[in-house]
Amino acid sequence: MTDFEVMQRVFDLAAKGGHNVAPNPLVGCVITKNGKIIGEGWHKKYGGHHAEVNAIRDCQKKFGNNAAKKLLHKSTFFVNLEPCSIEKNTPPCTEKLIEFKAKKLVCSIKDPNPLINGRGIKKLKQAGIDVQLGLMKDEARKLNKIFIANHLYSRPFITIKVAQTLDSKIGLRGAGQVRITNNKSIKDVHKLRKEHDSIMIGSGTLNEDNPMLSTRFSLSKKISQPMKVIIGNNVNVKSKMGLFKDFSKVIFASTKEIVIPKDLTKNVINFKNAKQNIVENLFSYLLDLNCRSILVEGGNKLFNSFLSKGYYDELIIYTAPKIIGPEGIQGIDVDVDSFKSKMLTLDAIENFENDLKVTYRNKKPNGI
Ligand SMILES: NC(=O)c1ccc[n+]([C@@H]2O[C@H](COP(=O)([O-])OP(=O)(O)OC[C@H]3O[C@@H](n4cnc5c(N)ncnc54)[C@H](OP(=O)(O)O)[C@@H]3O)[C@@H](O)[C@H]2O)c1
Repeated sequence: MTDFEVMQRVFDLAAKGGHNVAPNPLVGCVITKNGKIIGEGWHKKYGGHHAEVNAIRDCQKKFGNNAAKKLLHKSTFFVNLEPCSIEKNTPPCTEKLIEFKAKKLVCSIKDPNPLINGRGIKKLKQAGIDVQLGLMKDEARKLNKIFIANHLYSRPFITIKVAQTLDSKIGLRGAGQVRITNNKSIKDVHKLRKEHDSIMIGSGTLNEDNPMLSTRFSLSKKISQPMKVIIGNNVNVKSKMGLFKDFSKVIFASTKEIVIPKDLTKNVINFKNAKQNIVENLFSYLLDLNCRSILVEGGNKLFNSFLSKGYYDELIIYTAPKIIGPEGIQGIDVDVDSFKSKMLTLDAIENFENDLKVTYRNKKPNGI
């Protein structure tokens, strides 16, 4: 097996952790000796053993403790994320590699957790273990993109989604919700909504569009709905708004008090904060609520304030072959100085009949 094939197996194993490991990352581990797999494992649930420990146990189970000890001596560990070097719920994994005298670690990316971030690798190198970093790093970032954003920036993972015309317009002032993209694109947006813990809009979009902000991806009524976050002061909350058609949590983030009608459930909250850092404090508040990802759906002012501050991990633009003309509301309109230093990476291009979906990624620091 080539190193790529082994690492692909690591990703397949890591993905088995599914939704059971959050807020921990998805991690898989394959141990090889002389080109053959001798053990494999993955992090199965939050608080449970880490992938490296499960792979060692797998080796011991297959070959017995004594033979496993010999096999693990001078073996190679493949992992998608740097082994931990701190004791939290379980002992540090670096100790295991050192204890069993592994020869080499092949690892895709460093752990963005500031408590680890390279310390695990340093510890292994100091113990004489050869470390190779970077194999399939893009795939590794994608797999744990939410975990990475949460740790790197202490905020939820942020996707900005724009639906625009060929002339980059997102609507028409005073016209309410303007249909821009086709049914297939809209279906894809509902899927995106399902993949995020929350959907955020500005007060302008609430007042103009009166959206429901729910995921209508599946006909099942049991589907869990993302939280809805409305940012801005200029909001007049009424019980009959589209937002309240389901019973998901709704947060109005503002710098002045927003009156919530008494007949609305306890799920409707006013997060009130001082003006200077309302967005940053809102991010911490959302993380405390276990809301680890946000889909920012507009409008123009919210897009631009987040883009200029670098508050995004992915930018998804759906473009329909339509032209609204000068009366339309401009979509992305960030001033050049605040955006020129930002680096975007093209991630994917898809088409939904006549519409085009382009996904960009915000560049991450080296090694992660
Ligand atoms: N095609 C699309 O993808 C799309 C998506 C959504 C909306 N739209 C269209 O966009 C239009 C609305 O856009 P818009 O620019 O007028 O409104 P908007 O961006 O939805 O809302 C602007 C308001 O949100 C608040 N806000 C935004 N960023 C903030 C920040 N960083 N911190 C604190 N508050 C912040 C402010 O509220 P206060 O001033 O109240 O404090 C601001 O005035 C509508 O016509 C809608 O149909 C299009």
